[in-house]
Amino acid sequence: MNVRPIRVDDLPGMQACNLQNLPENYTMRYYLYHAMTWPSLSYVAEDHKGRIVGYILAKMCVDISEGEEPHGHVTSISVLRSYRRLGLAKKLMIQSQQAMCAIYNASYVSLHVRKSNRAALGLYRDTLGFTVKDIEKKYYADGEDAYAMHLSLK
Ligand SMILES: CC(C)(COP(=O)(O)OP(=O)(O)OC[C@H]1O[C@@H](n2cnc3c(N)ncnc32)[C@H](O)[C@@H]1OP(=O)(O)O)[C@@H](O)C(=O)NCCC(=O)NCCS
Repeated sequence: MNVRPIRVDDLPGMQACNLQNLPENYTMRYYLYHAMTWPSLSYVAEDHKGRIVGYILAKMCVDISEGEEPHGHVTSISVLRSYRRLGLAKKLMIQSQQAMCAIYNASYVSLHVRKSNRAALGLYRDTLGFTVKDIEKKYYADGEDAYAMHLSLK
C-alpha cells in the first residue's frame, strides 16, 4: 500500500470511500476546496492497482479575528474495511500532521469524533496521543455527541 498526497483526479475515489465508511458525507465542491487550498494536507492510500482504499481530508483553520492560533483540522479520515488494522490511518494522520507543522506552522491539530467510535478513539487517543478538549452535545445529525480532540504539534 502506498500513501501519497492527493491529486484532483483522486477526489471521486475519496468520495466513494467516504460514502462506504461514514455517514458524514461532503459535496465534490468541498473536496475540491480542500485540494485546491491545502493540497499538501490531504493524502490517499492506494492498493497495487492504484485504487483508493483510504484517505485523510484536512485543512487549516486560521481565524485571527477570534484570536485563535493557526491550527490544522482533520475534516474526515477513513479506510475501507478490508484494509483496516494495517497502520494505514496512522500513516495518513502522521503525514498530514507533519505537513501542517512544516508548511503552515500549525501549533496543534483538532478533530471531532463520535463518542461511540471505539476504533477512531483508539487511533487518536491511544496511538497518536490526542486528548479530549470538549464534548459537543448533539454535534452529529443523528443527535450523537462528539469529542472535540486536540494534539499539540509543538
Ligand atoms: C478509524 C479508522 C480510520 C482506523 O483505520 P485503520 O487503518 O484501521 O487504523 P490503523 O491500522 O492505523 O490503527 C492504528 C491504531 O488505531 C487503533 N485502532 C484501529 N482500529 C481499532 C479498533 N477497531 N478497535 C480499537 N482500536 C483500534 C489501534 O490502537 C491501532 O493500533 P494497533 O493496530 O497497533 O493496535 C477505520 O476504522 C475507519 O475507517 N473507520 C470508519 C470511519 C471512521 O470512523 N473514521 C473516523 C471518523 S472520526
